Amino acid sequence: MPFPHQRLRRLRRTPALRRLVAETRLGVEDLVAPVFVREGIDEPVPIASMPGHAQHTVASLVAEAKRLGALGVLGLVVFGVPSTKDPLGRGASDPDGIVQVALAELASALGDEMVLIADLCLDEYTDHGHCGVLRPDGSVDNDATLDRYREVAVAQARAGAAVVAPSGMMDGQVGAIRDALDSAGFTETAVLAYAAKYASALYGPFRDAVDVTIAGGGDRRTYQQDPANRREALAEVALDVAEGADMVMVKPALPNLDVIAAVRRRFTQPLFAYQVSGEFAMVKAAAERGWVDGAAVAAEQVLSIRRAGADVVVTYFAGELAEALAG
Ligand code: PBG
Repeated sequence: MPFPHQRLRRLRRTPALRRLVAETRLGVEDLVAPVFVREGIDEPVPIASMPGHAQHTVASLVAEAKRLGALGVLGLVVFGVPSTKDPLGRGASDPDGIVQVALAELASALGDEMVLIADLCLDEYTDHGHCGVLRPDGSVDNDATLDRYREVAVAQARAGAAVVAPSGMMDGQVGAIRDALDSAGFTETAVLAYAAKYASALYGPFRDAVDVTIAGGGDRRTYQQDPANRREALAEVALDVAEGADMVMVKPALPNLDVIAAVRRRFTQPLFAYQVSGEFAMVKAAAERGWVDGAAVAAEQVLSIRRAGADVVVTYFAGELAEALAG
């Protein structure tokens, strides 16, 4: 033979060898769990399109947080489902609103053991289901929405959120929130920007989870990003970083591995990727039919998201993966 075969299979021979040379590792500290808390219920309500997940009561949420914390999960993203909605989404900033009550209970139960991240948006709280305040013609008013986001940020920080995570894709939202937090004395509250958030069909189950229907069969394409664009995602991240984002996120995760990789190359901030409700539900549905091994697919997908460059994966599989990693 003129030259020896490249024997790449040598290092694949045993599980120990493979583990030793693995380029990417998945640990429980890489996972953040999204959770839902609903106002006015006495028992948790299962979410049909998200098997294993529920709209929690405050008490069952605290129990779930402790369970996840005991497994080593370090962070939660908390979403509130209010019992009443209105055009301005008042419940989002009400000190007695469900998410504020839940954050306060979580903070007193967990202290600094887990990182409490509050999703900062209006869509769960508005009767029209949009992420912002509407003009009379039905379009979303960017700057009027920023005024609401400022109020929400301060209410969430006051209630005990360590991190606020604006997900509404309004221009200038990170700067407005940073300014509001600093002015109210919450200089230590961090901002995790949903910087590159695409208008995706994969948010369907989430909208069941938070009882959101967008008025008139509308969508979010006038504020969320067009999936056709990658350079625009870098512009979004650059702006959010310039406005003071401490951490940035790409969402959904698996369809946007190229975006995750591009953001990783250009920016130094911790990078999160959100494996969203539809990504979770597709795996669950196929697994229920016996068509794929759900646990194996989940682990493979989350590992791929890490390999693309995400430091942290926000995933509805966090609890299951944490159990598997502990076992
Ligand atoms: C907005 C928000 C959404 C998600 C997270 N924050 C919904 C949307 O933009 O329509 C989706 C998360 C998921 O699908 O898991 N508050």
